[in-house]
Amino acid sequence: MNAPEAPRGCPVAHHGAELTRLYGPEAATDPAGIYERLRKEHGTVAPVLLEGEVPAWLVIGYRDARRVLDNPRQFTRDARVWRDRTDGRVDENSPLIPMLGWRPDCVSQDGEPHRRLRAAVTDALQAAAGRGIRRHATHYANKQIDAFAHTGRADLVHDYAEYLPMLVISRLLGLPEAEGRDLVESCAQVLGGSENALVHDARIQEILGELVVRKRSEPGSDLATALLEHRAGLDEDEVVSHLRLVLITAHTTTSNLLARVLQLVLTDTSRLSGLISGRLNVSEVVEEVMWDSPPLAVLPGRFAASDLELGGHRVQEGDLLVLGLAAGNRDPEIRPDAGVSVQGNQAHLAFSSGPHECPGQNIGQSLIEIAVDVLLHRLPGLRLAVEPEELSSTASTWESRLDALPVEFGG
Ligand code: HEM
Repeated sequence: MNAPEAPRGCPVAHHGAELTRLYGPEAATDPAGIYERLRKEHGTVAPVLLEGEVPAWLVIGYRDARRVLDNPRQFTRDARVWRDRTDGRVDENSPLIPMLGWRPDCVSQDGEPHRRLRAAVTDALQAAAGRGIRRHATHYANKQIDAFAHTGRADLVHDYAEYLPMLVISRLLGLPEAEGRDLVESCAQVLGGSENALVHDARIQEILGELVVRKRSEPGSDLATALLEHRAGLDEDEVVSHLRLVLITAHTTTSNLLARVLQLVLTDTSRLSGLISGRLNVSEVVEEVMWDSPPLAVLPGRFAASDLELGGHRVQEGDLLVLGLAAGNRDPEIRPDAGVSVQGNQAHLAFSSGPHECPGQNIGQSLIEIAVDVLLHRLPGLRLAVEPEELSSTASTWESRLDALPVEFGG
């Protein structure tokens, strides 16, 4: 492929040669291989192409990632400065828009506007979560298991991990269970970067818009009501955008994480027996997965606020940067021996860092701990029904998801 024409300073012009795509067949099956090749070829920051041949810098080095995430004045989250978009080089139907486009939510802003919206979302999350995340997680975990417990077999991705977080989060938001189940597919399409991403994103917003109208006349003990009533005075668009942000971020990350935790436990009998006997805590397994398979492998995105240097490259004002959280966690500069245990070390990038660091991490972690505990108690003799090498994953630009986790139990 010849690199498309690009403006002065963007990664394509900078290198001119054939650039690596973070989408397509190779990225779908071997994203880790791509990150390591880019690290060898370019160092800690590499020029790449996203869907639609849109150029970006992929930050692969841990220290560079921290520099970007911890310095919003230099690397803003505000996509209104994204030069390729303002110059009309990003198709308005691009699947990148739901992931990178500006909207009136806290993740799209910095400084005082970010503080105002983040305070509203963290207060609302705290209030809604205080009313029973653990209780709802236990209830829905048991309900999911009831559907397959009599069969002696299950696919823990499809029958458990894909739906459980959404059911709990729908409850948190104030959505009926059936609507939550329907939205699992829409979230997958948005993160998968499919051509239908925009249609599914619009569907999510429509359902959440209807929820907000309902909650105005019938307030409840839920996130939608807490946001509507917050003293920061969010308007309707802001409330819907935050419900969307929580729904998509919380569901996709937590379901991916749950599947990876179960994969690790079921492919290593010592971890499984450790959890059953109480010698090992679920949180220790979660931490390991956060280092080695962070649910959001590539974080969208930051934009250079001025011309600057990063990882030995000249980055120009308005350039897009995407953060390789999975690659950064495996950076040989901070983990020269990737086999050494990371137990007790929470400095991974999986929750990001700086002002946007995930405010829902405790909710996600509690949900996973309960999901694993309930599963192990309900299904004695739980074991993998295939060889570990048969387990496969499919990746999009942003995440790599386990395709299936077939198990047997009982007898
Ligand atoms: C447990 C798995 C989770 C992971 C790995 C995760 C990861 C992340 C990451 C990497 C960000 C940073 C975005 C950025 O820097 O641009 C983020 C932000 C956010 N997450 Fe999470 N998340 C998880 C669970 C949750 C849950 C359960 C909730 C809510 C119930 C949540 C709500 C949010 C919100 C509202 C933001 C935006 C914060 C801001 O911009 O200030 N997350 N998450």
